[in-house]
Amino acid sequence: MPQTVRGVIARAKGAPVTVENIVIPDPGPGEAVVDIAACGVCHTDLHYREGGINDEFPFLLGHEAAGVVESVGEGVTDVAPGDFVVLNWRAVCGQCRACLRGRPWYCFNTHNATQKMTLEDGTELSPALGIGAFADKTLVAAGQCTKVDPSASPAAVGLLGCGVMAGLGAAINTGNVQRGDSVAVIGCGGVGSAAIAGARLANAGTIIAIDVDDRKLEWARGMGATHTINATEGDVVEAVQALTGGFGADVVIDAVGRPETWKQAFYARDLAGTVVLVGVPTPDMHLEIPLLDVFGRGGSLKSSWYGDCLPSRDFPMLVDLYLQGRLDLDAFVTETIGIDDVEAAFTKMHEGGVLRSVVEL
Ligand SMILES: NC(=O)c1ccc[n+]([C@@H]2O[C@H](COP(=O)([O-])OP(=O)(O)OC[C@H]3O[C@@H](n4cnc5c(N)ncnc54)[C@H](O)[C@@H]3O)[C@@H](O)[C@H]2O)c1
Ligand SMILES: [Zn+2]
Ligand SMILES: [Zn+2]
Repeated sequence: MPQTVRGVIARAKGAPVTVENIVIPDPGPGEAVVDIAACGVCHTDLHYREGGINDEFPFLLGHEAAGVVESVGEGVTDVAPGDFVVLNWRAVCGQCRACLRGRPWYCFNTHNATQKMTLEDGTELSPALGIGAFADKTLVAAGQCTKVDPSASPAAVGLLGCGVMAGLGAAINTGNVQRGDSVAVIGCGGVGSAAIAGARLANAGTIIAIDVDDRKLEWARGMGATHTINATEGDVVEAVQALTGGFGADVVIDAVGRPETWKQAFYARDLAGTVVLVGVPTPDMHLEIPLLDVFGRGGSLKSSWYGDCLPSRDFPMLVDLYLQGRLDLDAFVTETIGIDDVEAAFTKMHEGGVLRSVVEL
């Protein structure tokens, strides 16, 4: 029987979100219904609300979530009712050219549920990132459920479903930070702070946090930054060089995603170093840089989608590190809120007062 539950809906561009009844179908072949326990508020939810992703309103927002599988459809064998799972937006297909080359973390054809969730009047919903988890329950492809240790806090480990994984993976997977490397991270919101935590996890030596907000720099120290730079107080490139023997950092991660921060990352890096772009630029942004500088400095210029993560490999491993006390995911949860508080959380995010607000359901 289809179920009616509450969900957070963005009905129109820029309009405040509303809590409404939504209808969840029974899971079909390859699908699962998940009873959501917690879901973080990510910048991408706000991008959806503002029409910055696409025009397929109404959206069911929320995509950084953990919960318990309630029911599964035909042919689902990897998860079963009662499993504690973190939801992911990279359910790999196993068939595309990336998967066939043995690089499933790049999968170009990821799965979502086939059936639609709807409003009570039958209007089809577009779930954010194919998840839609600011809701009591949601319908996803079974491959979007990654089973993890059930003793972990849902509010903390749900964040691995998007921003925290993107940041950790930007350092560990895409940037391939090695023991002793110097690392600089530009922008220390949820994603950049996670990149700092990732650099610490990889035993980087010098870890430099850069932001325009002193509160974020303070939090970044807690995540593992050994040095901080307030970007409003001088030349960022010179400041990074001064902290790295005059040379620049081995890996520089841009977690803002603007031409000016990317250029800082490019020039704040040592010869043959690596730049990782994890912040998401907007379509109007362009880059102009002397090609000779690109050639002459060597190294690699990379982008990181979802931290190049493979959920089945990375989520259980990171949850175990969390439970061992080696990765402080609780530090990303600035506050827990109710389902009615998402709009207020967007305002706080805008004002910079939080790393993550997490809706508990
Ligand atoms: N690549 C991915 O898979 C992926 C996944 C999730 C989020 N993101 C993107 O990552 C970016 C960061 O997300 P977030 O949730 O951390 O956002 P956030 O708003 O919490 O953090 C952004 C931080 O950048 C700082 N900042 C802004 N301008 C700056 C500047 N010029 N120099 C230094 N710092 C500056 C802000 O003070 C803030 O602390 C966003 O663009 C988001 O869309 C990417
Ligand atoms: Zn694939
Ligand atoms: Zn997100």
